[in-house]
Parts: sequence; C-alpha cells; structure tokens
Amino acid sequence: MTLQAKLQSKIVSAFQSLGLELPEGFNPEVAISTDVRHGDYQANAAMALAKRMRMNPRELATQVVDALHSEGVDELATLEIAGPGFINFRILKSAWSEKVESLLRDERHGVLAADSPENIVVDFSAPNVAKPMHVGHIRSTIIGDSLSRISRFLGHNVITDNHIGDWGTQFGMVIYGWKNLINKDALKADPLQELLRIYREVNKLCKVDETILETCKGELVKLQQGDATNLEIWNECVDVSKLGLNAIYDRLDVSFDHWLGESFYNGQLAPLTATLEATGDASLSDGALCVFSNNELPPKQDPFKEKRDGEWSDLPMIVRKADGASNYATTDIATVDYRLNEWNADKIWYVVDARQALHFRQLFDISQRRGCKAELTHVTFGTILGKDGKPLKTRDGDLPQLANVLNDAVEQSRKVIEEKSSDLPADEKEQLAEAIGVGSVKFTELSHNRNSDYVFDLEKMVALQGDTAPYLQYSNVRCKSIFRKLEETVDFSSIKPEIEEEGEINLSRMLSRYGEILPNVLDDLRPNILANYLIELARSFHSFFEACPVIQSQGNTRLTRLALCELTSRILSHGLSLLGIKTPNRM
Ligand code: ARG
Repeated sequence: MTLQAKLQSKIVSAFQSLGLELPEGFNPEVAISTDVRHGDYQANAAMALAKRMRMNPRELATQVVDALHSEGVDELATLEIAGPGFINFRILKSAWSEKVESLLRDERHGVLAADSPENIVVDFSAPNVAKPMHVGHIRSTIIGDSLSRISRFLGHNVITDNHIGDWGTQFGMVIYGWKNLINKDALKADPLQELLRIYREVNKLCKVDETILETCKGELVKLQQGDATNLEIWNECVDVSKLGLNAIYDRLDVSFDHWLGESFYNGQLAPLTATLEATGDASLSDGALCVFSNNELPPKQDPFKEKRDGEWSDLPMIVRKADGASNYATTDIATVDYRLNEWNADKIWYVVDARQALHFRQLFDISQRRGCKAELTHVTFGTILGKDGKPLKTRDGDLPQLANVLNDAVEQSRKVIEEKSSDLPADEKEQLAEAIGVGSVKFTELSHNRNSDYVFDLEKMVALQGDTAPYLQYSNVRCKSIFRKLEETVDFSSIKPEIEEEGEINLSRMLSRYGEILPNVLDDLRPNILANYLIELARSFHSFFEACPVIQSQGNTRLTRLALCELTSRILSHGLSLLGIKTPNRM
C-alpha cells in the first residue's frame, strides 16, 4: 500500500469513529502536499465537512486529529493543524526507512495493479498507406504507445490496434502512378519514399491534365469494384508500406497487437448501412444516407448541429454517399462494433489529432444510440511548431517526415556524444546516438501536456541539461556507475535502511511517490505526469548525491545510501521504459 493510501484509510476510519452523520458522497481525502515545508501530505476534509455541517473547522480538525491518534497514525507520521483547519502529515524517518525497505523487495516499485482490470483498446498511430508518416503521426504514435505500456503495467488488458488508412481515395492516384511511373528498384530500397514520390507526381499531373485526373478516378472505381489487376497493385502497395512502416516502428520500439486497417471492414459496410437505414438511425437525404441529430442534446452540445447564418442547421454524418460508396465514418462505426463484439472492449481510446474532434463526437454519439456501453475517448493532441512558432514544415513547405525527424535528432545527439564521450567504441557511440536521439524526440513529446502545441528545438531536446531524455538517461548511468566502483556486491534483500538526513528523506519521498502518481496518468490520459515526475526524481537524486557521500560513508549509512541509488536507478529505468525510452549503461 502507498503511504498516501495508508493515511487515506486512517482518515476514513477517524471520521467514522467520530460518530458524525456524514453527508452523502462525502469522502475525506489525503493529498500530496504541494509544499514540503508544511509536511508530506495534507487533508482538508475537516474544513470541507465543517463548512457543510456549519461547525467550527479548527475544532473539528482537533477531533479528527485525536481520532487519528487512536487509529495509530503515530507510527507513520506527526500531525499538525494549520490555518483554518488543514491537517498536515509529516512522515517519520522510521516510516521512510520501512518504505524504502519494502521498495527494495518490490518488483512493482510500489505500484499496485488495478483491482478490476478493464479491456482497453488503444487506437493509435494509424497512418495512411502510400503516404509516409509525418510528424503529426509522431504524437499519436508516441502518446498511444506510452499510454498502452502504462495501462498494461497498471494491470489492464490492453489491445493495441493500428487502424491504418489502407482504403482511401488516394489509391486512384497511387494505382495510376504504379502503372505508369513506378521505379521498382527505388521501391525496393525505400518503399514509403517511392510511393510518396509517385503519389506527389501524379497529384501534380492531375492538376495540369484533366484527363489524367479522370483516369485516376476510374482506377479507384475499378479497385472498389474488385478489378483483379488493381486489387493486386493495391495489395502490393499495402504490403510494401507495411514493411516501410515496420522499419520505423522498430526504430521507435513500438508494436501493435493488431493491424486492422480500414480495408478490413470493407465487407461489413454494406450490411451495416442497410441496418442503419432499417433501424432509422440513418436516413436518405439527396441520395446520401445520413445520420442526423436525435435532438436529445441542446443544439450547442449537439455534434449534428452547426450554426449557419445565426440559425442552427443540420450537420449530418454521411455514411453512404449518393454514388453508393461508404467512407471513413462508416468504417469507424463498423470498427466500434467489431471491438465491442470481438474484444469485449470496456474502453476505446482514439489517439488522434484534435482536428478530427467533430468526427469523433459524431461517432461516439451514434455509437451510444446504437447501445454501445463502452467508454469512448478521443485522446486529442495539439500541433508541433517550428522555431518560428508556426506548424513545423520542411524548407519545401511540406510536413517533415517522421523518419527524417528521427535522423536529425540522432545526428544532433552524435554531436553531443562526440563532445562528452568521444572515448567510447564506435559501435557503442552509434547505439548511444540512436537511444538518445529517439529518446529525446519521445521525451519532448511526452513531457508536454498533450493538448498544448510545442516548439521542436533539436538542440534543446538533446541537451544533457534541462528537462530532457539524455538528462534522465545520464542520471541513471550515474546511479549505476556507483556500483561499478564498488569492490563488494551488495545484497539488497538483506539491507535494513535507516533514513536520517534531509537529502535521504527527500529522495525517499520521491521514490515512494512513484506508486502514487503513476495511476494518476490514467485519470486524464496524460503521460506528462510520469515524465515530469521522472525529472523531479532525477533532480532529487542529484541533490542527495551532492549532500550525502555514498562510497565514502560507512556501515549502515553506506548501505542505506547504496539502496537509495539502486532504487533511483530501478525507478528511473522503469519509468523511462513506460515512456518507451531506452536506458544505456554508459554515456
Ligand atoms: N488514418 C487516420 C489519419 O491519418 C487516423 C485514423 C485514426 N483512427 C480511427 N479509428 N479513425 O488521419
């Protein structure tokens, strides 16, 4: 149990023992103090309750504190009533010592697994085939991967699904390009680049030559009607794209349980639209089959309404166009059905650009109408900006490609490595550059609130100083290097730590906080809670290391401090692994 949970249960019993008639829904809580000068934890329950029951808050706080004493709080913490009736808890040195001891023996680093595991489907990355992943996909891929890792570690049954866009209108152009422009050698060497090249080339041609545009449209129709040649080309395109994508995922150390792209649902779309029509969930409008508002929400909150010329008008979701073709929306409705029926999903998280907000609001609304009980969440994120504060672009004005962004970051970290650790063997330097470069891109992403835009600044991201991946990776290396200097091996399972000094207390507090903050990531699906915690942990390790000599100390003090270094390294590397970031042994 975390210290927070222990205090929490004591305060609940304390309130019960007072014999007060507690109002409905009143739940006394113990929070982590924002300022350690006041203590480690704080409860404002006495104040909150006094207000509701018109009692004197300080008097009630005094009663609660007396009751807490009877509940045995004294073995954990000293108490103090502050201000109008806050109760502050300061954890005792003996309790820190015990906590550190229990962490040493705990493979889960003080993190409890959820009592009731849920089936969580995480839909992330999902690039479009024949178009390379660009930096926009980076946010989805990195956030989605880390949320999956964290929820898995918290005990949930996580299913990751790469819902790639493998059946879009782009295939008209791609097939035309394949038939007329493809360079097979280039395709072999770098499939994503070659597919992108022909796609761009054809796009240009279509703009100047109407007949080519018509031919492309014809190719798309043929594909949709099941033309054998076009299907074969499409198949090959998807296959080589997957190869290219997998090369990037390998580099990012990202994997998926399933790759059920849009095309997987093709066979289910006609029956689905027929059902939607039959049940009245959708109706015909100008030949198109549409989902309209069911008027259960005020227009302002209704995703099927928009204000036009001062009036609320219908904003339907089209599920079958007048020409009979289904679309992105239809596929997503079928996808929800599949995930509910096949995977028994309790939750589905869509880690997708905030610009698709309307699509998901409509999708969630229609799913609910059709009886979906799972919790559907659009996990939104903002834009990556260049140093000029505008959305990041290449010199040609295109969106930068993910692979190039990774290359640039690795290149930048090579420079840093040459400066700091030029004596390492060449292949180790190369591995290090990859771990730092890719880690930097990931950490920059994950340390920001996902809804804020952030500036992509390579030099800053890869710097050893600052809130960066290399700072954390280096802190871990520093912990580990202490053990390389030792002559003896340490048996951590037999250490009885004795936490005494300020630096030791501060570090113990940070170590024990891991189990308290990690579950909070899932409250609002924010990996930055973990990323920022790791930075704080590393800072507190460096302060400890400056104030408290480790190797030069003696006896149990030395063992205690070694234990703190060991735990710091364990939690840093574990936390980084949940962010998908590698921890090198040397730097
Ligand atoms: N392929 C889409 C895009 O790149 C993202 C798909 C997200 N997932 C979904 N179920 N709609 O914009």
